[in-house]
Amino acid sequence: MVKRVFIFTIFLLFVISINVLCDEFSFLVISDLHIAEKDGVKNFTVFIDQIKELKPKPDFVIVTGDIHAKSFQKIYQELKPEIPFHVVFGNHERREDRNTLKQMFPDDFKEKDFYSFVHKNVKCIVLCDAVDTGDHIGHFESEGIKGQEQQAWLERELNVDRKQYPFVFVFAHIPPSPDGKAETMYLSTNDQKALREIFKKYNPSAMFCGHLHKKFEFTIEDIPVFIVPSLNWNFENQVAGFYFVKIEGDKFYSEFIPLNLSSKN
Ligand SMILES: [Fe+2]
Repeated sequence: MVKRVFIFTIFLLFVISINVLCDEFSFLVISDLHIAEKDGVKNFTVFIDQIKELKPKPDFVIVTGDIHAKSFQKIYQELKPEIPFHVVFGNHERREDRNTLKQMFPDDFKEKDFYSFVHKNVKCIVLCDAVDTGDHIGHFESEGIKGQEQQAWLERELNVDRKQYPFVFVFAHIPPSPDGKAETMYLSTNDQKALREIFKKYNPSAMFCGHLHKKFEFTIEDIPVFIVPSLNWNFENQVAGFYFVKIEGDKFYSEFIPLNLSSKN
């Protein structure tokens, strides 16, 4: 009897481990909705419609900041998207906007402006590198970011068993720069240096950011960084769109999909 239970337990462990390895799913990343400006409401409505046509059906959406919380809350309550949302704070999210978004997504935000969650065998780390006073330069720590020692927290969050979590994605509003130089729209120089060191040590799967209002892809320490263009308006006449990220076996694929603005909306 004991032997039979032992064999069954081994079999169960094997099935569970296979399931963990074979979990396939997808998610979407959108950014800089700026809902109250220009075509914000229209484009978000088109996006919610376009999700229904995507195959495989994505499991969730992450918004990498600059949302316009009050206007977003209104359209979100009207459209009632079936797909779960997770949001990242951008420099347009002042403290009262952050409070609105924290009320909308209480499972994500606790006492801090940053959080992480696990979906299937994937860990998603949502940083807050944008302060609540509108600074366009990114920081890990500031009086304008709730929750101290974000850099140390990021290291702890990345320090996981990669057999258990083969994919770890990092999301933030303000990106590091491709060459590590100080510039207005990027993380501050020392925080960029720290991020590079941390990435080198823990090797996350990819980072997704917004803020630049253009599609831009590069690597830091061999880690792919995807700058998600705005779903509303972009520089250099770039089209609005989003990333469709698919996890398949031991690989992930990140594909840019233009917003279908020729639809009936
Ligand atoms: Fe921004």
